[in-house]
Amino acid sequence: MKLDRYMSDSIENIVNKASLQKDDIVRLLKSETDEAQKIYKKAEQMKADNVGKKTFFRGLLEFSNICAKNCFYCGIRRENGNTVRYFMKDDEILEQVKYAIDNRFASVVLQSGERTDRKFIKRVSSLLEKIAYLVGNQEIGITLSMGEQSRETFEQWFRAGANRYLLRIEASNKALYKKLHPSDALHDYERRLQAIKMLQDMGYQTGTGVMIGLPFQTYEDLADDLLFMKNNDIDMAGMGPYIEHKDTPLYKYRHQLPSKRERFVLSMKMVAILRIMMKDINIAATTAMQTLDPVGREKALKVGANVIMPNLTPVKYRGGYLLYEDKPCLDEEVEECQSCLEARIAMAGDEIGYDELGTSRHYHQRMHRKN
Ligand code: 5AD
Ligand code: SF4
Ligand code: FES
Repeated sequence: MKLDRYMSDSIENIVNKASLQKDDIVRLLKSETDEAQKIYKKAEQMKADNVGKKTFFRGLLEFSNICAKNCFYCGIRRENGNTVRYFMKDDEILEQVKYAIDNRFASVVLQSGERTDRKFIKRVSSLLEKIAYLVGNQEIGITLSMGEQSRETFEQWFRAGANRYLLRIEASNKALYKKLHPSDALHDYERRLQAIKMLQDMGYQTGTGVMIGLPFQTYEDLADDLLFMKNNDIDMAGMGPYIEHKDTPLYKYRHQLPSKRERFVLSMKMVAILRIMMKDINIAATTAMQTLDPVGREKALKVGANVIMPNLTPVKYRGGYLLYEDKPCLDEEVEECQSCLEARIAMAGDEIGYDELGTSRHYHQRMHRKN
């Protein structure tokens, strides 16, 4: 019976359904090139109708690559001795935040490896206070992306001015998650999930996401990833293709992976389907998509993404933050990327939301429901 449904349901019928079930999503993920165009068209329409033809900039500062974790896929994992570790000085960070404000980005993302030591926690709090002082009474979006922390730490940082948090679930299937991480308390699936829920409860605009095209990952896993985001009511999403890194344990599975082209196309479909499923959230066009296709981010913007994170990290540190290989813009300072992106976004048919916070509409609705 199920098979019959597959045959009779056209792509148009599926994308126009009020709610997509797992088998619908799998069918969309497996669609052929001409069929995929129909998914993209629908997602483009959903974006235009619900969040508008607009892209928001979030200036991304990868302020430290020191990480206590050992995720099997990541180039800056603790045990990679080939990475030169850095921690940007507060003044260097503040200078880049100032660039973002002066250039009307209205929002920054502070990202680093994951650490939970007291020194780090204090350092981030004091940095947030300095940023609050720098911006004065102008309201800006401050997103943190620093992994799992205790409730107290999340609260402390919230009080110090952070208002958004990105914490990818990486792979929503627990069994797959286990294959991608060491089996110890530091890399516990349940703990990560709890952290995401805590952030949501606390009033952070909460983002999550996954990697696409991982070894051992199935279409069903990817469909579940999208349902995970929907069922968990997330406000923002950042997803991108998995890209191998030679200094990581997962590198040995590189011959089992879908081709880079396939991973890119799958990522496009994931973005488009998510926009169809969650019309009012913010979706990032990620750097990993740009890595696999020279106009990957612009293509993602065409099919539903509405956020781009220009890299504010000074060039001298960029080479240290290689989560995966072939990361683009290693030699381009933010000024160059900004003008490059302005031209590219115009080509994609969007305007840039300068001076706008670009808060996820979903967030307002979620908080309204809660209160
Ligand atoms: N390929 C793609 N994305 C990666 N990340 C880490 N390693 C890789 C890789 N090899 C992503 C993870 C993490 C984010 C900061 O970078 O999803 O959450
Ligand atoms: Fe550390 Fe994040 Fe890389 Fe895992 S993915 S090793 S937590 S930086
Ligand atoms: Fe960096 Fe184009 S976005 S040079």
